[in-house]
Amino acid sequence: MIQVHYLARHIREIAYPNYYYEITRKNRLAEQKATNITWHEATVTKQEREQLLNQKGCVVWFTGLSGSGKSTLANAVAHLLHERKHHTYVLDGDNVRHGLNKNLGFSPEDREENIRRVGEVAKLFVDAGTIVMTAFISPYRADRDQARELIAENRFVEVFVECPLDVCEERDPKGLYKKARAGEIKEFTGISAPYEAPHIPEVVVNTAELSIIESAQQVITFLEKTALVPSEK
Ligand SMILES: Nc1ncnc2c1ncn2[C@@H]1O[C@H](COP(=O)(O)OP(=O)(O)O)[C@@H](O)[C@H]1O
Ligand SMILES: [Mg+2]
Repeated sequence: MIQVHYLARHIREIAYPNYYYEITRKNRLAEQKATNITWHEATVTKQEREQLLNQKGCVVWFTGLSGSGKSTLANAVAHLLHERKHHTYVLDGDNVRHGLNKNLGFSPEDREENIRRVGEVAKLFVDAGTIVMTAFISPYRADRDQARELIAENRFVEVFVECPLDVCEERDPKGLYKKARAGEIKEFTGISAPYEAPHIPEVVVNTAELSIIESAQQVITFLEKTALVPSEK
């Protein structure tokens, strides 16, 4: 199954030559400023932490329109894995914007920085041995690919939470589409800001057609198939 990952990468590179280098915008906040810094090797290694936890740290990156079901799914997957005694964490868009990213808005630049930070935090969680779920619209392909690049090849699982705009708008769990249509929210993904669907995500979940549990199960099945989590006996 690991080979499938390599194959997917080759297909990405052949089909989209600039796939890993699409990042054209300059993110001022991403620049390295400090110079007198030296990496301090950790005494306890990632492998030792993973052994203790009896699992592999990885990122399950949910992307999709607002209301597509990212938060619901991330939490459903976390719940199922937790029941199987796996150590998980959910990084959720709105929650992270309450703290770490409270100084960021929804302009393209701020969205980019939002995702850059989340990618870096997810990387730390993977290093800690956690199965971390991220639930962010993450509308730009380049930003998601940048996050992917931070993580080891087979430890980044991009899940496209596919759901037609009209269904998301019908659900409108936070009443945001209504506000966006009324012009009360600017730069709203799907209405007045773009969403770039992944070219070759590891998993596509169509939440308009599947139940929450079926959708979550589809993600778990992928994690089992790629041996990121052991299959249930
Ligand atoms: N298969 C499904 N997976 C996830 N959510 C679903 C599904 N079917 C219906 N829903 C509903 O869609 C809504 C998704 O909301 P939410 O998870 O907050 O979306 P997002 O985090 O993507 O903005 C919830 O009200 C959820 O109950
Ligand atoms: Mg959400």
